[in-house]
Amino acid sequence: MSKFMDWVDARFPATKMWEDHLSKYYAPKNFNFFYFFGSLALLVLVNQIVTGVWLTMSYTPSAEEAFASVEYIMRDVEYGSILRLLHSTGASAFFIVVYLHMFRGLLYGSYQKPRELVWVFGMLIYLALMAEAFMGYLLPWGQMSYWGAQVIISLFGAIPVIGNDLTQWIRGDYLISGITLNRFFALHVVALPIVILGLVVLHVLALHEVGSNNPDGVDIKKHKDENGVPLDGIAFHPYYTVKDIVGVVVFLFIFCSIVFFFPEMGGYFLEKPNFEQANPFKTPEHIAPVWYFTPFYAILRAVPDKLLGVIAMGAAIAVLFVLPWLDRSPVKSMRYKGWLSKIWLVVFCISFVILGILGVLAPTPGRTLLSQVCTFLYFAYFILMPFYTRLEKTKPVPERVTG
Ligand code: HEM
Repeated sequence: MSKFMDWVDARFPATKMWEDHLSKYYAPKNFNFFYFFGSLALLVLVNQIVTGVWLTMSYTPSAEEAFASVEYIMRDVEYGSILRLLHSTGASAFFIVVYLHMFRGLLYGSYQKPRELVWVFGMLIYLALMAEAFMGYLLPWGQMSYWGAQVIISLFGAIPVIGNDLTQWIRGDYLISGITLNRFFALHVVALPIVILGLVVLHVLALHEVGSNNPDGVDIKKHKDENGVPLDGIAFHPYYTVKDIVGVVVFLFIFCSIVFFFPEMGGYFLEKPNFEQANPFKTPEHIAPVWYFTPFYAILRAVPDKLLGVIAMGAAIAVLFVLPWLDRSPVKSMRYKGWLSKIWLVVFCISFVILGILGVLAPTPGRTLLSQVCTFLYFAYFILMPFYTRLEKTKPVPERVTG
């Protein structure tokens, strides 16, 4: 075996890569619950790719046959219903995992210097993931697939001068049709997965270049032993590979319970109108995107003007990209930040959740007002950040991690 590895290593850096990224990658020893979600995101990504490839074997991307081919997968293809539900539940699981993964970043300042690029690559993954989910949702060709896509694509029509041409260019037709379905299929199964995979590699490479942050926000590279190993670091493999298996098992228990017993999740993971085939002549009574988009949809609806609404929605995502440069705090972790940072993070999270709930519901004057307040607080969290992070009194950060 070692002779074989010597032969390989002389031609390809297999052992070097194993050591650099696993057996000699020293991660802080104080990782907590929130550090499970990076490896879980990888797991869900693999699940989406594997189940997606198998679904593609029986799915037909045409307006005439798409809906029926999904029914065929659900009823006649061997293990088809499990494959499909693993994929549809996997989409929601992906966003739950990624939102918790991003929240960890906010909590421990993981986006701060020197991890700005880790964050920016993460945000690019998030954007690509949203595009991937949006296009995937058109494929079953149900009522909500059709009308959800109709609402979102027509938003581009609000852009002055080029709006109409742009919407037509995206659809490839005067209305959403089999042509749109076909191109969304190509992007969903080939182009975007390649982009996402490439970005994940860049994300992890950028992280391993600078090393992981931790719940204390302490730089473990400041204290090393005589061999250059951080005193507060432990080898990723075997310590965290084994620990991550615990996370994987717990996650799979919850995930499989949903897949087998509540795959529709009360209409949140699979929306009820989508059990009916797309009908361009029949608008559903109430159109709402899937839950993971609803905070941004609520921001769009909170603004009375369509163009300004689209701009606000875009800005709500864009502002996350510049987060590393908005936080001026001398400390990273919420543990040592002041009261203002803590309060604003809570306000931000509550606003985001309320916006998510409002985005599912039909608008009323009261709900619109509430969504305007939450939109204001959402942006205030970011816009005021350079001020409150600089003004507030922080607690002294320990030299070594606190365990
Ligand atoms: C497909 C989606 C993603 C995958 C597979 C992924 C994977 C990972 C992995 C394996 C780690 C190292 C383990 C860990 O710290 O938990 C990590 C760290 C990190 N990720 Fe992601 N990630 C994804 C999306 C994102 C997104 C959307 C963001 C934020 C915009 C993000 C921001 C970060 C940050 C800041 C770290 C460093 C955390 C620290 O050291 O404290 N990631 N990611």
